[in-house]
Amino acid sequence: MKVFVTGCTGYIGSHTCVELLEAGYEVAGLDNFSNSKKSVLDRIKEITNKEIKFYEGDMLDKNILEKIFSENKIDIVIDFAAYKSVGDSVQKPVEYYINNVSSVLTLLSVMQKYNVKKLLFSSSATVYGTPEVMPITEEAKVGGTTNPYGTSKLYVEGILKDLAYADKDFKICVFRYFNPVGAHPSYLIGEDPLGVPANLMPYICKVATKELPYLNVFGNDYNTLDGTGVRDYIHVVDLAKAHINGIEKLNNTDKNLHIYNLGTGKGYSVLEMVKTFEKVNNIKIDYRIVERREGDVDECYADSSLAEKELNWYATLGLEDMCRDAYNFSLKKY
Ligand code: NAD
Ligand code: UFG
Repeated sequence: MKVFVTGCTGYIGSHTCVELLEAGYEVAGLDNFSNSKKSVLDRIKEITNKEIKFYEGDMLDKNILEKIFSENKIDIVIDFAAYKSVGDSVQKPVEYYINNVSSVLTLLSVMQKYNVKKLLFSSSATVYGTPEVMPITEEAKVGGTTNPYGTSKLYVEGILKDLAYADKDFKICVFRYFNPVGAHPSYLIGEDPLGVPANLMPYICKVATKELPYLNVFGNDYNTLDGTGVRDYIHVVDLAKAHINGIEKLNNTDKNLHIYNLGTGKGYSVLEMVKTFEKVNNIKIDYRIVERREGDVDECYADSSLAEKELNWYATLGLEDMCRDAYNFSLKKY
């Protein structure tokens, strides 16, 4: 069975390719390296002893998609390719909507042409906006997104819903990821953001490696246990494995559209993250409390019981694994 993975050299894409190859799937992949490095391909090979059939190019380019679908007998598509920086998206909304929405339309039109009708799509907990009830189930209201990145995911979910309704042959699985962190235990692949990290774990890692002097904790007056923001951090390897369960689901379902939260169901505050990181890695993380960051919510964690029930998937790795693996990967300078 052949899986086509867009954004295959990115953070979640690379971990998923490893799981796919190790599970015996053939993989064709596309990336334009707008947020990843070519050397990731060598490291996927080093881990798995197998190779992706890789295409360098842009998902907005119909010609490269046509080439991939005509040269490979694709059974299923996993779509990771997107821009993902919340702050950047506020500055560059047009670029974000083109890259995150138009590219999906291009992909879908080529999938239709080649009669490939199974898709797993990477969405985000951000589609819930400011959640009203915790933990968040898939039934919770979506919308009220506060930035173009989040809105782009919401739009694509809407498009996929319309398509699932219109074409009963399509089988679509939307995954709403919570906060993926950590790295593969080989420490050959992991999260490697360009510039100053916008997210908590990569920022903590840069403080640990002394590339940044201290962590700015964005507010300690939230309505949480210790006043700092609470999120549902999930190990990227657990997240990657869920895609194998997603494929199995799409191969054995009559329903056209499935939506699943992927999280651990547990929330941890920023200060709990810092303390766990310090303990596991035996390293001091200096921090300062600063102003709240605009658009942040008090807490956001998943009810992942639907994924457990229907996909037979649940997270097995805990916060200590996440902190250890993220740090060990950040010590490697690839
Ligand atoms: P990433 O930036 O590490 O990976 C995305 C990959 O897609 C990169 O390698 C990039 O070069 C590539 N890419 C982007 N636009 C492309 C295009 N037009 N054509 C070809 N390649 C393109 O991001 P990630 O963390 O691996 O995220 C993967 C997906 O999961 C994204 O859709 C993201 O929005 C979603 N997601 C991520 C998070 C998170 O916190 N990491 C949370 C929720 C959802
Ligand atoms: N935080 C800090 N200091 C930092 C970075 C973050 O205190 O330097 C805090 C935030 O205020 C928040 C928590 O750490 O309370 C987590 O922040 P992240 O930026 O790591 O993650 P977010 O929950 O804000 O958002 C992430 C991705 C989104 C995705 C969402 C899904 O950035 O793209 O998870 O839940 F949609």
